[in-house]
Amino acid sequence: MADKDGINLPKDYAIDIKPPTQHFHVKGMEHVDWGMKNRLSKIFNPKTGKTLMLAFDHGYIMGSTSGLERLDLSIPPLIEDADCLMATRGALRSCIMPDHNKAIALRCSAGSSVLKDDMSHEVIGVDIDDAIRMNASCIAVQSFIGASGECQSINNIVKAVDNGNRYGIPVLGVVAVGKEMKRTPKYFLLATRMLAEFGVSIVKTYYCDDFEKITAACPVPIVIAGGKKVSEKEALEITYKAIQQGAAGVDMGRNVFQAENPKAMIKAVRSVVHDKFSVEKAFKLYEDMKRCTTY
Ligand code: 5RP
Repeated sequence: MADKDGINLPKDYAIDIKPPTQHFHVKGMEHVDWGMKNRLSKIFNPKTGKTLMLAFDHGYIMGSTSGLERLDLSIPPLIEDADCLMATRGALRSCIMPDHNKAIALRCSAGSSVLKDDMSHEVIGVDIDDAIRMNASCIAVQSFIGASGECQSINNIVKAVDNGNRYGIPVLGVVAVGKEMKRTPKYFLLATRMLAEFGVSIVKTYYCDDFEKITAACPVPIVIAGGKKVSEKEALEITYKAIQQGAAGVDMGRNVFQAENPKAMIKAVRSVVHDKFSVEKAFKLYEDMKRCTTY
């Protein structure tokens, strides 16, 4: 019988041993159908296997956030450097022109605002029909493992996976960290693996210690959120460490659009994700771009 103590046992994650070679460039997705592979290839660059997702879905819980007061002004200049835009259908339809070829990670869970202490009771807030109309490359649904709404959020995830599988649309499972949860490796190991086992194709989580164990134990790609704004150099360091330790990219918001120069910042993050830049080289790129890019 599986038990709670089982997750305390030290494990051998065989970090040095690569998973068996796949022909398809997205981890764990060798056996999915053509349409799903095609959508995943829009998100993950087939040459690098990585993705730079730009997250600006924060308004669905926070209203207007610093840097996102005017989506129609702040986001369009950043689109060319992103592989994928993560947003709500309302933000996309009202503020973002559809005349680009970027992947769309459509925020499909909805529930409470930041005014609530417990935000874990979300529902699926977008019909699969509307996700298809929005040409979603993936459907993003939040999970709240360990919170009072855990079961409800897992129900949202599995329903989204069933709906997505029906039409070849991958699910991006987002690991939310409620106020009562700690951002420990143990927590992220549990939550990321659970989401993969429920059938999501991509997991979004936060960077933490022992991150290479988390990516090793998760059979599908992990992208990291940036979290609260830190200095530009620190954000590049987090990105670099995550990529070195097996992340397949970032799904970053505040550390891009709240940067002193967001356009320079997204280019610098991109250089780490896709071009193997070191932190120093990427930060220099940021500083150079900052001087010559107006925003
Ligand atoms: C909220 C989200 C956000 O998209 C996510 O937090 C990414 O943004 P940031 O880099 O600002 O943390 O998934 O649930």
